[in-house]
Amino acid sequence: MEIKFEDLKILYSKEQIEKKVAEVAEKLNDFYKGEEVVAVCVLKGAVVFAVDLVRHLDMPLKMEFIRLSSYGSSTTSSGKVNAVDIKLPDLNDKNVLIIEDIVDTGLTAKFLIDFINMNFHVKSLKFCSFLDKKITRKVDVEPDYYCFDVDDKFVVGYGLDYDGYYRNLPYIGYKE
Ligand code: IMP
Ligand code: MG
Repeated sequence: MEIKFEDLKILYSKEQIEKKVAEVAEKLNDFYKGEEVVAVCVLKGAVVFAVDLVRHLDMPLKMEFIRLSSYGSSTTSSGKVNAVDIKLPDLNDKNVLIIEDIVDTGLTAKFLIDFINMNFHVKSLKFCSFLDKKITRKVDVEPDYYCFDVDDKFVVGYGLDYDGYYRNLPYIGYKE
């Protein structure tokens, strides 16, 4: 599948995204109640969501960045998670908040949750994804928090890419 800019339709607009991100951040503020958090942003896709989300969070917070990839071809999951760079500080006794762009097969989410639980005894572990594509799930994992559902579409924008492009779009787009 090739995705051209002129073929893109808007699924979620910039205004819808701004409103929803603020709402999800409010839920996180309620949950953590001022307790310190380590936010782990999964590069590259989650970077746009993460920088918007953390600016609404009101607790003491550190940001960490790791890089995973699971996409083999441009639009279909390889079924394998590749840990490109997963160096993390000591997360023992920390409230860890993973920030992802989308949960698709769920393999990346499961890999990361298992990795953190195997290496640390965290105080709490929550998974916050911008999008949730439930229909393509292969493993039993759900985000604790998410902004929007997506059905079986390949979407771009707001950090999500097609072949490296379109991460800069302020909306979520798809090709009909
Ligand atoms: P999973 O491991 O199959 O859940 O896939 C997670 C990763 O696949 C995400 O972090 C995205 O980088 C990528 N991905 C899944 N669906 C889409 C999509 O519709 N557009 C762009 N990237 C996607
Ligand atoms: Mg990703």
